[in-house]
Amino acid sequence: MKLSVVQFTPKFGMKNENLGKILKYSSEIESDIIVFPELCTTGYFFQSKEESMSYAEEFEGPAVASMQEISSRTEKILIFGFAERDGDDVYNSAAILMPEEEKSGVYRKTHLFYKERYCFAEGNSGYFVIDDKKRDIKIGTMICYDWRFPEASRSLGLLGADLIVCPSNLVTPVWPKVIPARAIENKVYFAVANRCGTETARDETVKFNGQSGIWGYNGEIMTQAEQEDELVLTTEIEPSKTRDKSFNDINDIFGDRRPEYYITK
Ligand code: ACM
Repeated sequence: MKLSVVQFTPKFGMKNENLGKILKYSSEIESDIIVFPELCTTGYFFQSKEESMSYAEEFEGPAVASMQEISSRTEKILIFGFAERDGDDVYNSAAILMPEEEKSGVYRKTHLFYKERYCFAEGNSGYFVIDDKKRDIKIGTMICYDWRFPEASRSLGLLGADLIVCPSNLVTPVWPKVIPARAIENKVYFAVANRCGTETARDETVKFNGQSGIWGYNGEIMTQAEQEDELVLTTEIEPSKTRDKSFNDINDIFGDRRPEYYITK
C-alpha cells in the first residue's frame, strides 16, 4: 500500500488556488492514501472567529465534494485540513475521504493552539478510527498540536489504528523528537503532512517548519522533507504488521498496560 504526504505553502485566503493545488495533487499522485496539511485550503493565521467563519465551509460543501469526487473515482483515500462551518460554529477540521463515500468522516481538532482559541470552537468529534476492510487498513486522525498530548495517539492506538495521520501547521522545533516515540509506544505508522512558509497578521509572523515525514511502527524515519521544499513524499506501508503488539515472547505493549494505575484527571 502506498502512502504519500504533501508539503506545500498554502496562500492565505486564496481558497480557489489552494484547493486547485490539492485537487491536482490528488489526481496526479499514484498512491492509495494522500495526506495534506492542516487548514490547507485557507491558510492558517486567522485572528478572529469572524475571519475564520468567512472562509469556512461545511463538510457537505464544495471543497469536500470536489475532493470526494476524486477519492471515489480514483479509489484513493484523501485527508486534508479545512475550516469547517457547522451552524454558528467553526472548527479546525480534517476531512478523511474514503472511496466509499459513506465511510468518509470529519475529525475536529481537539486541542487548539495559540490564537486558534479566538478563531475556532474546540473539536467535539473525539478520536475515531476508520476501518477500511476492503484495503485492510485502519486509519486514525489527529491534527497538529494534538501531538503534544500522548493521549491522542494512545486513544487512536487503542481504537486499533494501524496508521495515524496528522495534517499539521507546525511551528515549534521539538515535534520531530516526539513523533517516533508515539509511533513506537503504539506500534503504528505515523504520517505528518506539515506546511512551510510564513504568515503575518497584526505585525506578528508565524513560520511553519516543514519536515513532513512518514515514520514506521518502530519509530524509524521512512521518508522526511527539509524545512522549506514543496514536495510529495511516498513510501510503502504494510498495515497488518502493526497489529501484533508484542515485541518479544512475553511482552505485549497493549496487553501489559495497567490502566487502573494511570491518572487521567
Ligand atoms: C498547530 O497546532 N497548528 C501548531
